[in-house]
Amino acid sequence: MDTMEHYVAELRTSLNAAIGKNPVLLLISGGVDSTVAGALLLKILPSDQVHLMYMDTGLMRKDETKTVTAILEKLGAQHIHIINCEDEFLTALKGQTDPEAKRKIIGDLFITIQEREVARLGLPESYFLAQGTIYPDIIESGKGDGKKAPVIKSHHNVGSPLVDAKRAAGRVVEPLATLYKDGVRKLGAYIGVDEAVIRRHPFPGPGLAVRIPGEVTKEKCAILREADAVYLEELRRRQSSSGRSLYDEIWQAFAILLPIRSVGISGGGRAGGHVERKYTWVLALRAITSADGMTADVYPFETRDLLEISARITSAIPEIGRVVYDISSKPPATIEWE
Ligand code: XMP
Repeated sequence: MDTMEHYVAELRTSLNAAIGKNPVLLLISGGVDSTVAGALLLKILPSDQVHLMYMDTGLMRKDETKTVTAILEKLGAQHIHIINCEDEFLTALKGQTDPEAKRKIIGDLFITIQEREVARLGLPESYFLAQGTIYPDIIESGKGDGKKAPVIKSHHNVGSPLVDAKRAAGRVVEPLATLYKDGVRKLGAYIGVDEAVIRRHPFPGPGLAVRIPGEVTKEKCAILREADAVYLEELRRRQSSSGRSLYDEIWQAFAILLPIRSVGISGGGRAGGHVERKYTWVLALRAITSADGMTADVYPFETRDLLEISARITSAIPEIGRVVYDISSKPPATIEWE
């Protein structure tokens, strides 16, 4: 028996023994981890037992809700609960500029909405809560062996009062908790999750909020969402010298909307004509290679790719007038900017 077959067989036994005929609820973020966790539940349990809840925080990538819904339906999900809470998140983030404060607000609001919406579902008290937690989440949140790991950033996806209460009742299942990202991807492929889903780059729980240093607004989210989509589309269609797409060569790529406006010009140019001075946003691009996100190296783009991607972004999004590339590895920088 190969490793994956063995892993799934063991999970089948343990999940069935733990959950029995009770409903199980999984919060889906759209990322690889929670999607693979959902696919596992749907593979092991009858689909009418599995409830998947997804919060559209307004801090998601372009078309994320549509994409996630399509992925889950394809996996055979029957109960998909989409919670539209963009206004609540943007209102709570209004005026907030401190990175940890923003993370805390988002984490707390996730919990509040989660409790409210779970209650609204009216599942019987005996329901189980499944989580797509993977090993590095536990370590980076300081919840690893012996609680010795320091808290680097407050990841909100490991604990909450609801999770703690469910855990105390012995009703939490975390089928991926021993795996690193590459293990999750292998497992996903083994149980038939779409290649395109498996290859998706990681996306943080607090979403675009940690990629908009300073205050998060609906307008800034919209600009960043467009820029990020253009960037990722370019990476998908460009090939590296190995013949793979740049997207697949890179472990994680995304854009950051800096809280800086710089001077630019519109019109004019060498051909002359009316020149207008305008102040536009600066966008930073990040692309890293990594094994597990714990350390990361900067992806060494060919200069031509960077120049063309920058030109594509500034021509597609008039609010962005300047693009820079982040050339810092982890450590000392973290992957996200906040
Ligand atoms: P950092 O920025 O800490 O990121 O170097 C390491 C990896 O974790 C992702 N990340 C998060 N994932 N909730 C998540 O689920 C979070 O709060 C969070 N913060 C960072 C990040 O995108 C990278 O892949």
